[in-house]
Amino acid sequence: MSFEEMWAALLPVGRDEATGGYHRFSWTPPELECRAWFLDEARRRGLDVEHDANGNMVAWWLPEDGTRHGAVLTGSHLDSVPGGGAFDGPLGIVSAFAAVDELRRRGSTPAKPIGIAAFAEEEGARFGVACLGSRLVSGAIDPARARALTDGDGHTFAEVMHNAGFDPEAIGPDDDLLGRIGCYVELHVEQGRVLEEPVGIASAIVPHGRWRFDFTGEGNHAGTTLLADRRDPMLPFARMVIAAREAAERNGTVATVGKVAVVPGGVNAIASSVTAWLDARGPADERVRRTVREIDEAARVAARPHRVSVDLAEESYTEIVDFNRALRDRVGAALGGAPVLPTGAGHDAGVLSARVPAAMLFVRNPTGVSHAPAEFAEPADCLAGVAALAAVLDDLARG
Ligand code: GLV
Ligand code: MN
Ligand code: MN
Ligand code: MN
Repeated sequence: MSFEEMWAALLPVGRDEATGGYHRFSWTPPELECRAWFLDEARRRGLDVEHDANGNMVAWWLPEDGTRHGAVLTGSHLDSVPGGGAFDGPLGIVSAFAAVDELRRRGSTPAKPIGIAAFAEEEGARFGVACLGSRLVSGAIDPARARALTDGDGHTFAEVMHNAGFDPEAIGPDDDLLGRIGCYVELHVEQGRVLEEPVGIASAIVPHGRWRFDFTGEGNHAGTTLLADRRDPMLPFARMVIAAREAAERNGTVATVGKVAVVPGGVNAIASSVTAWLDARGPADERVRRTVREIDEAARVAARPHRVSVDLAEESYTEIVDFNRALRDRVGAALGGAPVLPTGAGHDAGVLSARVPAAMLFVRNPTGVSHAPAEFAEPADCLAGVAALAAVLDDLARG
């Protein structure tokens, strides 16, 4: 299967025909279809698939001497955000299979294992914590906390893992797998419009996190309840959304409220509670922290006159990731030079970089749009990405 054939096979999976957006949430039918596709592509190439205890998969191309250590791992993820683009995640995996094909075509015989990974729940779209699979492997999240995470329907991660055939008690740090990995190189579509060449190299991932605000008031009748009697959580919530924008402007950060749940959600009922999720990111830890503090303060000030309570919980936080300099330079040398750029998007490569040297290749995105249907990369740039990844894997797996 060529790059184009693999791409065409994945393209309809989980796509909403009306909007063109993808809905591939972990362990739902479209994501399971993507996993089945991954297994087929691995089988087709005679690669051994390792299923770890955390829902991640690795397709291995082992060297002739059977060495299992010092592996060069590549790959990305198959899950999507709600209404996401086609490229975020799958581009890294399709490119990895195509790069392996290219190396085999050249008769290259790597001295180290090359693994193609599909990490689970990278977007955190179902269970709320991004990069859950790589966080579990690398010990960046407590397994007990992961087991208790719930999806929008109230199913726990433990329940869903169990139903998918895993032992939820076995999830957690995997030093055996990590111990076999020499480095991880993830190819990804660029998610802004900084990159002007077909392929670039990541320097850093900015600090980023997710917070949950719970506004609790009192449900009541929209027609009969006097304004003075209301405890309407919508009002401080609305103020908090504006405060997020203002705090981001003051601190040179970005802050987004992209998800909200209103209970009970009736047109003719004052809400009893509103839950809003905040995503905040910025160039420095203290600026992100200050942004969130200021939003929280504004929410509390706005809530007081309405006798609404506000609870703030941090759901995840990732400090700045400075990708391994030696690996980054080696990747750059293998490409004969390429632009180097930071990113505001989180990736498994960022999480794994705490445990193994990691690097990222970006493929130009002419729309600059991501996490939305307009996310795009030109076919020629995708092929340039495959060629770049093949060159990097060839170099790193040589010795
Ligand atoms: C994941 O893609 C993120 O950066 O939100
Ligand atoms: Mn994403
Ligand atoms: Mn991604
Ligand atoms: Mn991501």
